[in-house]
Formats: sequence, structure tokens, C-alpha cells
Amino acid sequence: MQKKWWHDKVAYQIYPKSFYDSNGDGIGDLCGIISKLDYLKDLGIDIIWISPVYPSPMVDNGYDISDYYGIDPRFGTMEDMDRLIEEAKKRDMAIIMDLVVNHCSNEHEWFKKACEDPYGPYGKYFYIREMKDQKEPNNWRSVFGGSVWEKLPGNEDLCYLHFFAPEQPDLNWENPLLREEIYKMINFWLDKGIAGFRIDAIINIKKDLTWEDLPVDGPDQRSYVGNSIDRLIDRDGGTKDGIGVFLRELRERCFTPHDSFTVGEVFNMRKELMEEFIGKDGYFSSMFAFETIQSYKKGNCWYDYDRNMDPDQWKKAVFESQKLLSDNAFEATIIENHDQPRGASLYIPRDEYGFASVSALAGLQLLQRGIPFLYQGQEIGMTNCPFELEEYDDINTIDSYQFMIQMGRTPVQALDGCYRESRDNTRTPMQWDDSENAGFTTGKPWLKVNPNYLDINVAKQEKEYGSILNYYKRLIAFRKSKEYGEILTWGSFEPMYENQEKIFAFKRKLEEKELTVICNFSDSERFLVLKEDYSEVVFVNLPQVTRIGDNMILRPYQLIVVEK
Ligand code: GLC
Ligand code: CA
Repeated sequence: MQKKWWHDKVAYQIYPKSFYDSNGDGIGDLCGIISKLDYLKDLGIDIIWISPVYPSPMVDNGYDISDYYGIDPRFGTMEDMDRLIEEAKKRDMAIIMDLVVNHCSNEHEWFKKACEDPYGPYGKYFYIREMKDQKEPNNWRSVFGGSVWEKLPGNEDLCYLHFFAPEQPDLNWENPLLREEIYKMINFWLDKGIAGFRIDAIINIKKDLTWEDLPVDGPDQRSYVGNSIDRLIDRDGGTKDGIGVFLRELRERCFTPHDSFTVGEVFNMRKELMEEFIGKDGYFSSMFAFETIQSYKKGNCWYDYDRNMDPDQWKKAVFESQKLLSDNAFEATIIENHDQPRGASLYIPRDEYGFASVSALAGLQLLQRGIPFLYQGQEIGMTNCPFELEEYDDINTIDSYQFMIQMGRTPVQALDGCYRESRDNTRTPMQWDDSENAGFTTGKPWLKVNPNYLDINVAKQEKEYGSILNYYKRLIAFRKSKEYGEILTWGSFEPMYENQEKIFAFKRKLEEKELTVICNFSDSERFLVLKEDYSEVVFVNLPQVTRIGDNMILRPYQLIVVEK
């Protein structure tokens, strides 16, 4: 495999609104990020992905962009952004931004011009259709609920497409003029010195232009819009001649010339498309491993997911994708992000939460093959947060709550669904210390602070040798060490002890070197009959490795790495 500059890096996602507020207005900002760069460097981070900081009405917290060339004043100025890029470079770190080009905001000037003159040039930047007898063109349900069609302001007979909220009109990638605008904008940022992008909702940019109805899958007599993407890929026999045409052009015009690092948010992924998307000549450098984080989900809605991640199901999903990836590609491994619940709450039953379980989870993520993405607060074991219904901010949570009620769930059940699944779980302010508002702001935080900040915070963990934070530092240092960095980056991945319940184990191999990671991902002690011997234990989360002959005794949530 041809080595790339980003292969051996560790990435970290910042949700800027909740990271660190430097001026007391209750909202995190770019100067706040700059002031924490040393913290991130010390943790071992190389690449920082910042969720959107462009001007935005914030209907979807910045994923509704009204100007692709600016910085929202809530976050700071363009000078702050330039300084962030420069300060990161000084520390040998790279910044990647969020690229949100499936849709923009309804306050973007393109959309305003389209409303003024739907048949003019900017009308063609969007999908505008006629409403016949006030009827929507089809039965697709948007990601955030309701129809994907919304009446065009100022014109009763027309409507426009939005896969997400009505305030997020979808851009028409079939229009070459729109594509040119997008490439120009991307190159503007890359020329500024950012290292690449995390690419939002990108699988949605190719639409099913037949606009045919889909089979109803909900009480609203509609069908989830994501199904239209699946049907399109099936009908086209793949993506090469569909979305592939756009993605190749995007790569050639923007990413290849800049040697960028790109990581795609691609749902609807299929095994057979992996190579095409992130293989040697893939559209992106990497893609998030959602197939592993979502493996516990049963149906389409939060009330369907009634339990934590089952470790064996998770393990199976990881083994499957690692097998598929083989030596050709690097997925971006995650256990949480700004759209998912906290990993420490999803993977670990509530009464088993603690140093052992959280450090085991971290080890399993970071020692796999792939480029790890940490999410802010993961490194101190932040958890889901209890909210009252009125305290939720996220548009998706509010819609999902209503949907659960419509489906006959009681308010208590629906609120419990939100507690487990809400996107606000990971959006609560970063817990820096035990002062008021967890040291995130001197003002009033825009979103509730998790009440457990007195226990779980950076300052406290910095002082304790055995804290989760210090463990993360040791783990990242181990992953990048001179001795084991290469094998942990480029080494192959082979499942081990596959049929042992709740034992998550695998081998990493590079030339003559062999490491085996063995983890007891459960709260009871386990005996494991070793299949092969080893010469040395090179990493552990919990001290004491006990062996009796061929039997290894694994304490609850113990993780060990042995060398052949
Ligand atoms: C992606 C983002 C999510 C956002 C959506 C629409 O899934 O991660 O936060 O709501 O796209 O842009
Ligand atoms: Ca601020």
C-alpha cells in the first residue's frame, strides 16, 4: 500500500459551539480552540476536524450555511481562522473543515435569488418543481421529518427539495455552474492552508431524477428519503456512472491537486463500493466506519433501539469491515460524534461505567486498523446527559420525540429514547474543570452542561495518573511509538478468539512482527485458553496479567497487548 501523510495520524473532532468560549457569550469560538491547541497537542492529536464555523442561521447548528466564504461572527473572524491554521501548523497539527455541499441555507444569496426568479439562473442551483393541485411531487420524508418538499417562498405553485430541514434547500449538482462554484469555494479554503475536509452527507448529492414515490414506511404515509438513494444505486447497478461522476470531478478539481485528506460521511454504504470510495483511487481518503457504530440499530426510529450495543454484535461488525478493507483502505474509526450518543453510554451499561470499561473501549478503537477520530470529551469519558424535553435544542431530537409519541409511545418512553439517542448528548459543553459551567464559559452556556462535570472534567483528570485522560495519552503514544507505530498503522488485522463471547481480540501483523490485542469486554472475570504463546506484554489498561499455564485470567474489562 502506498503510504500517505495522514495514515499514521490521530484525529479529533471539535464541535466549536461547545468546545471553549473565550469571550463569555456562552458559545464556543475559534479563539477558544486556539487556546486549547496545546492541550490537544499534549493529548497526541495531529488532525483537528472542526464542525461548521461558516455564517449560518443555526437551524441545524451550522450545517445550514448562508455564506461559504465567511466565518460566523459567533465563532470569530477570518483573522481568527487564519491564526488557528497558523498556530496549528506551528505545532505540526493540521486543520480540516466541514464541507456541507448537499445543501445550503435558505438564507444563502443563491436561494434568495432563486426565490426572486425561479426560472432564472439561480433557480437551477436548486431542485424546484411544480406543485400540481397543491400536491407535493412525491411521498419522500425528510431526515428531520415532514415532506422533502416545501413551498417556494413567493410562489404558491412551486416547491423546492430539502433532504434535511426546510431551511436547508438541496443544491442541484446536475448543474455544471453550481459545481464550478463549489470547486472554487473548496479551493479557496485549501489554498488558505487547511489540510482537507470532512464531507457532510455526500452520498445525497445524486438524486433519483424520476422522483418516483417510495413504498410507505411510516404513519405519515411517507417514505424515508434515504431509501431513494438505495433505490438509485440498485437501479444504476452501482455508483460509478451516477454519483461517481460528480465525486471523481470533485477529487480531480480540488483534492488531488492539494494532496488533501478527506473523510466522507457516507451512509448507505455497501461492501462492494468500499474500494471505489476509499481504495487506491478512491473518491475520498477515508470514510467513517458507521457500519460498526450503528450495528445495534434495529429499525428506523429511536424507540426501536431499546438497549446498549451488544459487544459481540459490535465485534462482528468490526471484523466484517476490517476483512473487507484488507490492505487497500483505511476507514475512520469512531465510537461517537456530534450526531451519535456518547460512546461511553452506548457501549457500556450504565452500572459498568468506569476507568476499566472506558479504557477498554478506547483501546479497542485505537488499536484497530484505521485512522481514529476522537470526539471532544471522549478522552475524559464524557457520558450522555439527562435533559427535560424543553431543554433539548436539536431539531432532530424534537422531531424524533414527536414521531415516537405519534407511534404510541408514552412521554416517559419517548424521553428515554431521547436520553439514549439524542444528538444533544454529545453537544453539551466540554467539561474543563469543576468551576461553574464546567469552565466552558463565564456566561450562560447555549446548551445545558452535564451535571456530572464535578466528577468528570479535564482539570481533575490531568492531576490523576490513573485517569481516563492520562490513559488516552499513553494509548495514543503507544499507537504512535517508534517501536509499534508502524505495525499499529499499516499492520494487517486478523480476528482472534472469534467465538468467545465478549472477548474482543485481534492480531496486527507486519512482516515479522506480531501484536495480539485481547480484551474482555464484560464485567465478569474470564479464563481464556491461549492459542499461542507470547514473549512480552507490551500494553495494558489494568495492571497485573495473570497466567496459569495456558490459561490467561482476564479481569473485567481488561485489555492487554502482547508481542509474539
Ligand atoms: C450530517 C451532519 C449532521 C447534519 C446533517 C445535515 O449528517 O453530521 O449534523 O444535521 O448532515 O447537514
Ligand atoms: Ca464565544
